Amino acid sequence: NGIITIDPGYKNTGSCESAITFLDGEKGILRYRGYSIEELAEKADFLEVSYALIFGNLPTKAELEKFHNDIRDHSLVDDDVRKILEAFPKTAHPMGVLSSLTSALTAFNPSSVNIESREDMYNAIVRIMAKFPVLVAWTMRKQKGMHLNYGQKSLGYVENLMFMMFKQPNEDFVINPIVKDALDKLLILHADHEQNCSTSTVRIVGSSHAGLFASLSAGISALWGPLHGGANQAVLEMLEGIRADGGDTKKYMAKAKDKNDPFRLMGFGHRVYKNFDPRAKIIKAAADDVLNDLGVKDPILDIARSLEQEALNDPYFVERKLYPNVDFYSGIIYRAMGIPTEMFTVMFALGRLPGWIAQWKEMRLNKEPIGRPRQIYTGENYRPFTGIEKR
Ligand code: CMC
Repeated sequence: NGIITIDPGYKNTGSCESAITFLDGEKGILRYRGYSIEELAEKADFLEVSYALIFGNLPTKAELEKFHNDIRDHSLVDDDVRKILEAFPKTAHPMGVLSSLTSALTAFNPSSVNIESREDMYNAIVRIMAKFPVLVAWTMRKQKGMHLNYGQKSLGYVENLMFMMFKQPNEDFVINPIVKDALDKLLILHADHEQNCSTSTVRIVGSSHAGLFASLSAGISALWGPLHGGANQAVLEMLEGIRADGGDTKKYMAKAKDKNDPFRLMGFGHRVYKNFDPRAKIIKAAADDVLNDLGVKDPILDIARSLEQEALNDPYFVERKLYPNVDFYSGIIYRAMGIPTEMFTVMFALGRLPGWIAQWKEMRLNKEPIGRPRQIYTGENYRPFTGIEKR
């Protein structure tokens, strides 16, 4: 009808129909393909959940085996990608590196661009599921100054990731089952979250029929920001800052509530969850388990607990329905695993990979039109051109 309604931040705008993730922000319910996040985190592993998100159902044994074998067959990354990585300074933010390398993979897998059949789609999906963990591990190893390695075909998906990230030369690699279990949980809990900023980015870039890897690279850039995936890094930096400043959580609570102070309590609040974030509940319990089992005493965990208690009892946070979100405790677990702070959002990206893929696949199979929002123009009306000498 020609009438355009502006909805900043798309708070009340639906962009698509989707059969992937169900989310009820009032009741704190999150389900992937109908399976509850609590059950998946408890009973499934990350590869099974990835399969369910991408293909619609939890896999049978045979389906999972085939998916895993296909992934294993494509788990090498062209050695020239290593040269691109080498050209980055060690100080480069890992999210920028990961986004660049993911985009660069297109050059080495040109068949992943023109997706014309389900087979093309499957081939592109398997390749990126295989190569992305290598890029994640290499990004971390580069930052730490460690040599780059490949994985081992005999290992499971998450075990192999751990091998690629943590294997030291001249040392046997032993998988700590508690760490592996926590990593599986973290990846599962981050695997999809319907039409969030990065997922909407992947869908909108993909809607122009740009390739899968380019669409994912754009999603990684969107995830980087501190209001989205970058919150996990920001939370840890905030907790460390509070600790270095004497641990006075009340002072920072006051800052968060002061409208003249840009400080926000990172890891608190969510666009959709208004009672609690079901992912945060599971992660909080996992943080306790991992730290206890590894015998890690991390003083910032106490600071996090105090902040949470104070916020949950503070009228400012209660009125605005601000609760700890998925990222409030995730960084504490990553840190206990020996993952550097700047890598936290990269871990989020790896978790979100199957969700982005599933959403891209759904968008292409539904033959959605190119994403192209409208605007209301507020600039100058017609102005005659003035030559540069007369301006
Ligand atoms: N600390 C202090 N005040 C806050 C916070 C916070 N973390 N979050 C929201 N508010 C206030 C905000 O100032 C506003 O107050 P008022 O009504 O007086 O103007 C009110 O609460 C509503 O906030 P909003 O910014 O309008 O809400 P939004 O839905 O646009 O933003 C958010 C959601 C997650 C970006 C925001 O809560 C935030 O910035 N949180 C901190 C960053 C963070 O933890 N992000 C990770 C989100 S979960 C991971 C993911 O899915 O990406």
